[in-house]
Amino acid sequence: MWGRGLLRGAKFAQQLSSPSPSSSPSSRSLFSVAAASSPSPNLLSSQFQRGRWFGSSTANMAPVRDPNTLSNYDAWRTRHTTANLKIDFTDKCLRGSVIIELESQTDKASKEIILDSSYVAVNSIKLNSAPSTWEIKARTEPNGSPVHIAVPEGAAKGEVVKVEIELATTDKCTALQWLTPAQTSNKAAPFMFSQCQAIHARSLFPCQDTPDVKSTYDFNITSPYVVVASGVPLPEETKDLGEEKVYKFQQKVPIPSYLFALSSGDIASAPVGKRSCVCTGPNELKESQWELEGDMDKFLEAAEKIVFPYRWGEYNVLVLPPSFPYGGMENPIFTFATPTIISGDKQNIDVIAHELAHSWSGNLVTSCSWEHFWLNEGWTMYLERRILASIHGGDAHFDFSAIRGWKALEEAIKEYGEDHEFTKLCISHKGIDPDDAFSTVPYEKGFHFVWSLDRLVGRQNFDKFIPYYFGKWSNKSLDSYEFKDTFLEFFGAPEYSDLKDKIASIDWEGRFHSTGLPPKPEFDTSLADVCYELAEKWKSKDFTPSPSDVSSWTGNQVLVFLNAVQDFEEALTVEQCQALGKAYGLSESKNAELKAAYYHIAMRSKDTSAYQGVADLLGEVGRMKFVRPLFRGLNKVDRELALETFEKNREFYHPICRQMVEKDLGVAEASK
Ligand code: BES
Ligand code: ZN
Repeated sequence: MWGRGLLRGAKFAQQLSSPSPSSSPSSRSLFSVAAASSPSPNLLSSQFQRGRWFGSSTANMAPVRDPNTLSNYDAWRTRHTTANLKIDFTDKCLRGSVIIELESQTDKASKEIILDSSYVAVNSIKLNSAPSTWEIKARTEPNGSPVHIAVPEGAAKGEVVKVEIELATTDKCTALQWLTPAQTSNKAAPFMFSQCQAIHARSLFPCQDTPDVKSTYDFNITSPYVVVASGVPLPEETKDLGEEKVYKFQQKVPIPSYLFALSSGDIASAPVGKRSCVCTGPNELKESQWELEGDMDKFLEAAEKIVFPYRWGEYNVLVLPPSFPYGGMENPIFTFATPTIISGDKQNIDVIAHELAHSWSGNLVTSCSWEHFWLNEGWTMYLERRILASIHGGDAHFDFSAIRGWKALEEAIKEYGEDHEFTKLCISHKGIDPDDAFSTVPYEKGFHFVWSLDRLVGRQNFDKFIPYYFGKWSNKSLDSYEFKDTFLEFFGAPEYSDLKDKIASIDWEGRFHSTGLPPKPEFDTSLADVCYELAEKWKSKDFTPSPSDVSSWTGNQVLVFLNAVQDFEEALTVEQCQALGKAYGLSESKNAELKAAYYHIAMRSKDTSAYQGVADLLGEVGRMKFVRPLFRGLNKVDRELALETFEKNREFYHPICRQMVEKDLGVAEASK
């Protein structure tokens, strides 16, 4: 019974089952991009806006400046959310209620609250504890189905209303992956985890799914297995219900919806630092602890020195099963991470420095929409590189990492085409699914912009700006122009008057809205040069490699070398390719970065003996950074094997990854 809702059962069921056509004009990968069809660059550039007003606007209200929400958050703002959810492993859904407390931004001008939703089954909605009139309107892509809740009397400005939604997630939920016990390493229990960034929180429960709105949270999560959530655990408040327990968490720092996170399964934990533990499957615990324990405190202390003290309490890492679609996700209190960082050589934990850095850039200070995503990721790349340089010895390390970033940026821009909208720092998202616009561009173009400001004013001055900026915008969201204003305000102070001309020379509009590469900086190439020198040697067909060529190198140096080889005008011969793999132990490497880079070289050389290895790797990792480029590579050289491998592993991949690979391979929904 669907209560007093205007949407009755039949229509509701139809809405949930009819797949909507994909709206995305292009499919782009994580960090490297495919030469897929893409929107005309000029079509989009004119659509970029600083903000739009939604419905009845009133002075002093913040404009709805996020094109990826259908909510009227100019009129109502979520202040607190209580999630009372049961994790149902039998039906593979979350069910229960979510209570959203919203503050009226108008003086009784708005008579309805509009929330985002995507394929959520809503049972009932109460307004201030009484039944309400509500309706789920038709779905449109990419933003989903808005839920309209009538507030007949409106509410005075500042008044808080309570919306209680009884709901269940459906099998079309894009935020959750459910694993059977057989799909886990110790086979002891099922497992589930969420991934809400960018706009998947709305597939868990109706909410104002925009990074421009922040809410505190209470989590009351019922499960037969251990639960992890993006709040501070309250173990003394756990309620034992016999077969199940209610796990409680609290998030007192207001966070945007995309940072809501849950996971549950046979999860064990071990300490890895003064403020940190690692959580993962019991079989993986020792290795994960070893990989992380030496660096967690160092990372935290380095970050705190650069910005200011960590404000979230604990900083823990949940190492997920291999289908986790990202390297890491900065869910507060518990960073979610791919198990590919547990490579036994501590060569991939830069991901943790990155996710930790988001505790300031992204989680405390948040881009107000996905159009300004560079404020999250560009700043985080900058902080990540500062943290790692401060631990691993300075400028050469920083520049080496920046060189890798520049190379990735060049490649992404080449693949998109240098006039493409998605090569801008600020990317129009009108009608665009953020997953489709996602690429290395906001990361590295953003990084290079932040770094250029650092060099322009000088490190000493910039280091004073960093805590000012993060202090000023803590617990808030901002756009690129507010960032600009903050920078100009800080450096407009009399003590910086000698910088006046330099500051005036910044081409803000060009930086924000130009397509293609930004000005190229001068790098300290000392750590990269050895990699290029070895690559040069491989240009000669009779070079005899030896393991000692690379034995003293870091994994990232080997990667830079492999990328240089991949860029040769002429592909390696099959013999050379096999000699490369053997001499440097690449196809046996536990480091998925190296393995993947090697397989790309092998596919370019048409070394058919490597294809099965590619297919095997595609069954072992679900991290999109590897999966999508490997599928595209395999698709080019052996489409049959690519399709077969995808079908074989379909259930292994997270729904977001599955959808993206379907687009990459041109596998239509209907043909399933
Ligand atoms: N927040 C991102 C992951 C993300 C971005 C998920 C957009 C969904 C939509 C995370 O912080 C990230 O950047 N992860 C990288 C880590 C790398 C840059 C060290 C990844 O997943 O590889
Ligand atoms: Zn990030």
